[in-house]
Amino acid sequence: MASFSIDHHKARTGRVTWDDLDLTAFGTDRLPEGALRCLRSMHDVEHHTICYLREVLVTPAHRDPELTTFLSLWAFEELWHGEALAAVLDAHGEPAGTARVAASRANLGARDHLRPLLIGLAGWAAGDDFVAVHMAWGAVNELATRAGYARLVERAGHPVLTELVSRILRQEGRHAAFYLAQAHRRLEASRRARCLTRAALRHLWQPVGSGVMASAEAAFLVDYLFGGADGRRAADRVDRQLDRLPGLCGLGLLRGAVDARTTARPAVGEASSSRR
Ligand SMILES: [Fe+2]
Ligand SMILES: [Fe+2]
Repeated sequence: MASFSIDHHKARTGRVTWDDLDLTAFGTDRLPEGALRCLRSMHDVEHHTICYLREVLVTPAHRDPELTTFLSLWAFEELWHGEALAAVLDAHGEPAGTARVAASRANLGARDHLRPLLIGLAGWAAGDDFVAVHMAWGAVNELATRAGYARLVERAGHPVLTELVSRILRQEGRHAAFYLAQAHRRLEASRRARCLTRAALRHLWQPVGSGVMASAEAAFLVDYLFGGADGRRAADRVDRQLDRLPGLCGLGLLRGAVDARTTARPAVGEASSSRR
């Protein structure tokens, strides 16, 4: 497992930029409706990062300065991913940014109040081993996000989106590397952490964003990005990366989520043309 230098990461962190890209191109060459629908969900999830951060910081993670350094930079970069996607939605005449985020947070419900409390209690009971759960959870989500973005540009086939997302992907790759390195170190060091993490992922993990969007949107996102043969291959690649973490071999999380939400047929809207 590759090591991760927080100092190197600190030096490279920055907001993703798109000022040099011609987003007006979307006015005449719009993204396909399926890709736009995915972008709306991805916009909401990126903007929700600060709420995930709230849940990590109620655990013993807040005592580790390397973790808190990473998490500060992570929240900043994810915010700008959300802003970049907001710019794309805006170029399509769609509501995005603060107004859309406020509406999405207004629908979070009672679970949103309870989650930090329950996670805080679990973190108190499990101690440092609980941080391993969060790091492995973060690794799954970052890897799945990265694979999802790659699938989105493949399916949309739009040069401006491809360039913008390739910039986002470089940062997502570093996020995944951090979580993988942390998870590997913590899981290797503790049998209890391996048992806890495996059980938590197997019984509680849902595709990233499931708690933020309506279940129909979550199912659409999974089907559009990971349905069909190419999508399933991408999901399997994510699962194989997780297999390399101590104690997590064979979970098949993403492929299981795809199979549960789709049937073995081409992904929704998938055809043989490049613009789908
Ligand atoms: Fe992101
Ligand atoms: Fe990320």
